[in-house]
Amino acid sequence: MGIIFHEEEQVFQIETPNTEYWIGIVDGAYLGHIYYGKKIGDAHCVYLLRTEERPFVPSKNRRDKCSFADSFPFEYPTWGTGDFRESCLSIRNAKGYRGCELFYESHEIFDGKPGLKGLPATFCKSDRAGAGESGLNAGGQTLEITCRDPFLNVKVVLRYSVFDDNDAVVRSAEIVNEGAKELYLEKVLSACLTLEDEDYDYLTLNGSWARERHIEKSPVSYGKQGVDSGRGISSHQEHPFIAVMDRKGDQDRGAVYAMHFVYSGNFLAQVEKNQFDSLRMVMGIHPEGFTWVLAPGASFTAPEVVCMYSSEGLGKMSHNFHDLYRSHLIRSPYLHQERPVLINNWEATYFDFDTEKLISIAREAKKHGIEMLVMDDGWFGQRDNDQCSLGDWVVNSRKLKGGLNYLVEQVKAEGLKFGIWFEPEMVSPNSELYRLHSDWALQIPGRPATQGRAQYVLDLSQPEVVDYAYQSVAKILRSADISYVKWDMNRPLTDVGSLHLEGKYQGELFHRYVLGLYEMQERLITEFPDLLLENCASGGGRFDPGMLYYSPQIWCSDDTDAIERLTIQEGTALLYPLSTMGAHVSDCPNHIVGRTTPFATRGHVALAGTFGYELDITRISAAQQAEISGQVALYHKIQPLVREGDYYRLASWRENHHYDAWEVVAKDKSEALVTVVQVVAQAAMRSRRIHVKGLAEDSQYRLEETGQVGTGKLWMEGGLLIPRYEGDFISRIYHFVRVDEE
Ligand code: DGJ
Repeated sequence: MGIIFHEEEQVFQIETPNTEYWIGIVDGAYLGHIYYGKKIGDAHCVYLLRTEERPFVPSKNRRDKCSFADSFPFEYPTWGTGDFRESCLSIRNAKGYRGCELFYESHEIFDGKPGLKGLPATFCKSDRAGAGESGLNAGGQTLEITCRDPFLNVKVVLRYSVFDDNDAVVRSAEIVNEGAKELYLEKVLSACLTLEDEDYDYLTLNGSWARERHIEKSPVSYGKQGVDSGRGISSHQEHPFIAVMDRKGDQDRGAVYAMHFVYSGNFLAQVEKNQFDSLRMVMGIHPEGFTWVLAPGASFTAPEVVCMYSSEGLGKMSHNFHDLYRSHLIRSPYLHQERPVLINNWEATYFDFDTEKLISIAREAKKHGIEMLVMDDGWFGQRDNDQCSLGDWVVNSRKLKGGLNYLVEQVKAEGLKFGIWFEPEMVSPNSELYRLHSDWALQIPGRPATQGRAQYVLDLSQPEVVDYAYQSVAKILRSADISYVKWDMNRPLTDVGSLHLEGKYQGELFHRYVLGLYEMQERLITEFPDLLLENCASGGGRFDPGMLYYSPQIWCSDDTDAIERLTIQEGTALLYPLSTMGAHVSDCPNHIVGRTTPFATRGHVALAGTFGYELDITRISAAQQAEISGQVALYHKIQPLVREGDYYRLASWRENHHYDAWEVVAKDKSEALVTVVQVVAQAAMRSRRIHVKGLAEDSQYRLEETGQVGTGKLWMEGGLLIPRYEGDFISRIYHFVRVDEE
């Protein structure tokens, strides 16, 4: 395991526990991607670069270097010198000429993994303290390959890191101007992969507000295809993820090559099939609206891309991503802790609440085992609807009589912790802040700015604005005993202009915004290390690995309907550990889709995530209140398993149009929990067989719900018989416990 440079063959071997990634240096200058996949362990693989075939390498065919450039599998392709596929790097010089070509210069292999200044990044050791910005930690290795464009005097450092316990290869790139003149980076993507087309599909996560991360699979065809975001956030609509997989592959079989972006702003994720049937996958910051001014001596760091290869289908890919994020990305002390069962007042009251109402919710909630009250939007300024007051983070004393601290202490006296909502990146046109500082909103002078949800976006490229927004949040948190923050963000970025940036820097604004956001979140978790932070963006509009670096959980979607959630949570769990998925039981008919589902089903679906409630507990029936106590008890029982276990997708109602099933198995295989939701009942059906996964073959497991005992092999190969239930939207859970020692 590790990274080796084979001097004779001039190839780099990057090894993870189950995969290898090979890069070669051709003609002493060009970095080419040789191979990525199952281990081959043989440096002779360099022949795969086809340098003995036409058009040959430039030293043997100077007259047609162009054909070489257009077919060679560059590790980090550049724009303007003969490679006409999607590039990773495009540079304009001070005179306006664009063109760049990189030549290998040197490399270094070392233990550990450096952090990326100001950006979220994976780290080697899973402890928060070890995740310093420049700290190198044990448990992994890094390869830095330095390339240069001697004409521009630009140095490019390509970084590849691997971990002892995971199959990820994490990449990033740093561009340094070592010349004497300013340069303009027109495009800096983070990673590129070259594959041969072997009958692949490509996989993305797509959707909309309240319909996030639906899995989408399409055949790879000639030309460019993929997803992107230009909304300033990773977005509800597309996800910064792309995978290429065997057309016949499934959860257990087939090759999958995936890329996932550790970034929360604009992105491009693309696969391109070219004239030679080779595939180029790229990922990085979207070049549209991006230009970075690189002063002499300055550097630019492109965010990380996680590359993941699985030879055992999507299931193994999901395990790898889940483990990577739990062990090497999420820093929160809550990662391995049971999160308090919360009740959030949003769907209970919307803006219409006061101290008394919140206390009454807390009082009733306590009776049923709920542990934290979260006060959502509407507690500040004059905010009785979404038309005003963002930016005025001052307690509304008409609603919260006695003030915030009084409310918090009352809620605590009822026996609950207290959490609060903020939307720190925004300003309402109707706010004191806007009246004082309209220049702090993103805008293009002279052009009427576009409102979204009656609000503007703050210009987080400005340290003064970042500081104001941060201090507004921190001041409230310092004023009372607050255990949890829901950090919301409810509109995309438009009119992306800053009144405080010189013209030539306006192209930096999208990225500077994200850096400002990261700075605020870093300050928050540093000043309040015990705070449980949940990120949110109108539901799941910024559910991405970047945000997980700061918060251990993210609100998955504003759609809390149990059936809609099945597809949203299936897509989310393709990449993210269940412990990160904010999921609540809400009232029916559901406020988004109007559907009524059994309370039990709502509970089972929310138990696949962080778990909580989003309803007026004082107004639901006594029977439903009683069900809450049972659900909370179940939550405490299965929490460690759901939080720490291996997730398996057993069936998808998206595909079978009938039922959904997933499973979590303890890492030591001592127990497993299967959840089944019969979405639509079918006539004249017998029981349905589900193959349980991940058990120890020869161990005995008892199914708690029936007392039936069988070997792991029996449950996995023979299967579990799920009876046909009467009615739609019916769910059950099946808990298997290993009973070998009995
Ligand atoms: C969007 C969030 O996703 C909701 O949960 C809620 O907090 C509202 N914003 C409040 O405005």
